[in-house]
Amino acid sequence: MCGIVGYIGPRPVVPILLDGLKKLEYRGYDSSGIALTEGNGIEVFKRQGKLDALREELNGREFCAAAGIGHTRWATHGRPSDINAHPHTDCQGRFAVVHNGIIENYLPLKEWLISMGHIFRSETDTEVLPHLMEEFYEGDLVRTVMRVIRKLEGSYAMVVLALDEPGRLVAVRQDSPLVVGLGEGENFLASDIPALLCHTRNTYILEDGEIADVTPEGVAVLDRDGRKVEKSVFHVKWEAAQAEKGGYDHFMLKEIYEQPRALKDTLSGRIDPDSSRVVLSEIRMTPEQVRNIKKIFITACGTAYHAGLVGKHIIEKLVRIPVEIDIASEFRYRDPLVDGDSLVIVVSQSGETADTLAALRESRRRGARVLAVTNVVDSSIAREADDILYTWAGPEIAVASTKAYTTQLMCMCLIGLYLADIRGTLPEAERKAIIREMRKLGDKVRAILENCNVIDRFVQDYAGSENAFFIGRGLDHTVAMEGALKLKEISYIHAEAYAAGELKHGTLALIVKGVPVIALATQQDLYEKMVSNIKEVKAREATVMALAMNGAKDVEKVADHVLHLPSTHPLLAPVLTVVPLQLLAYRMAVARNCDVDQPRNLAKSVTVE
Ligand code: F6R
Repeated sequence: MCGIVGYIGPRPVVPILLDGLKKLEYRGYDSSGIALTEGNGIEVFKRQGKLDALREELNGREFCAAAGIGHTRWATHGRPSDINAHPHTDCQGRFAVVHNGIIENYLPLKEWLISMGHIFRSETDTEVLPHLMEEFYEGDLVRTVMRVIRKLEGSYAMVVLALDEPGRLVAVRQDSPLVVGLGEGENFLASDIPALLCHTRNTYILEDGEIADVTPEGVAVLDRDGRKVEKSVFHVKWEAAQAEKGGYDHFMLKEIYEQPRALKDTLSGRIDPDSSRVVLSEIRMTPEQVRNIKKIFITACGTAYHAGLVGKHIIEKLVRIPVEIDIASEFRYRDPLVDGDSLVIVVSQSGETADTLAALRESRRRGARVLAVTNVVDSSIAREADDILYTWAGPEIAVASTKAYTTQLMCMCLIGLYLADIRGTLPEAERKAIIREMRKLGDKVRAILENCNVIDRFVQDYAGSENAFFIGRGLDHTVAMEGALKLKEISYIHAEAYAAGELKHGTLALIVKGVPVIALATQQDLYEKMVSNIKEVKAREATVMALAMNGAKDVEKVADHVLHLPSTHPLLAPVLTVVPLQLLAYRMAVARNCDVDQPRNLAKSVTVE
């Protein structure tokens, strides 16, 4: 997804913009650009491709700008190209704009602007913005921005640079994140905190409709009618190193290895040491509200949706309330039977996913209480939900989600235990057994990471495959879906996940000699059935790698490779089972020379529909 940076102050502008854009690379992008106020004009440099292309363009040039804006673009309106890259300018080159989001009414605006004589160069929705500035400008950039946003429908985080007012940057947000970094004699703007961390930890997180008037000396925040807004400073506590690769070849690998710590962080402070009860102080539902819940909905996208599938199993088992689960892009349009008696749980690592945010809004509109499980403090989803449970996974930079997923699973379990406690649906001994096992998960994940040689052997043999199948039953099926998604998205191997009992209803036709099948057999009550399903695919000469709990009998006799996992409570098994699947996807992608951290066509934070 697109990234924005802005700088105003005495230091050389270009390196600050380029470094900021570099820190935002993880968001995924196809082109980049910067604009600077230079002498008598605004200079714009933009290039399709990775940042190096832009660096090359700038190489050897001298600049004396006091302000600049930069952007990494992920194409929506108009293909990736130099011309469609941001910043965009007006006819006379007096305004430069970078923008994240979508201006939904850009077509009528564009037609109107063309009828007024404006000349457009790109295919983007964004280009209406500088032309609107040009049309409305009467000597005050802030007032012009206020006037422009009254014309807009859609989502935007934008920053504007004006030739006539070189000493200020003006920024505004609506449904797309934007942060002001507060320096001394200099100030910054960015769509995301990591771009600011090496300069400042003091920030203003802009809310929808807020406008920031940024000069080197200070930052004034106004609402859309020009009234001053008193902002409190948000001090970022992350370590800068936390947002970098820390010695691993890829962010994804680093994040896989961070899971033992992340899982512990997710639990920290949430289990009362005396009573070993779950304490979720962030959730402000009263016990009466919890007791009145008639139905639970879970909605999310991608990996977060897969975490929701596990959540459904856990909550139904522990709380005995029916749980419906939907992909957020479906939920928002299917007229769901959500009402004031429903609890809707939205799951989103980034807290900015457009479909999940829309599902949240739709649920609230229908009177439901919304509980968000998210990783990003003060994200849009966190701000709009009634209750929040942060995953505390730390920044996740690789596009493929790993530690966010396992910490989301932990949160699902915390929610299940919390609700079960209030509704009295779980025997104390069972609750204590689950909590005891939850506390051990971090160490068990570490043990798995230290003993994954089976994966290496499998990768050596199958990195050239173009197809793979993941099979499992019950919770193992939900983890199979996540394993298949991971393999597809980063290694580009076509992978399908099947409920193992469904194979004979069609998929067996695709199982032929040498096809790799990853069989998950961690659920004790379904184990014998899984062994039969493994035999079914072996009979078609597939090569099977099985994942089973320590002590599982017979699996060696039927599978070609077996990876044993430390045993745990069946509801918690997904946290362990997914880890070898993450590593499998990672190692396959490396063996196939794929861009692990930024797979093709994908973005980390999907803030458009
Ligand atoms: C896959 C992946 C995506 C995200 C999905 C939702 O590895 O990361 O499928 O899970 O785009 O993103 P969030 O969780 O930010 O709402």
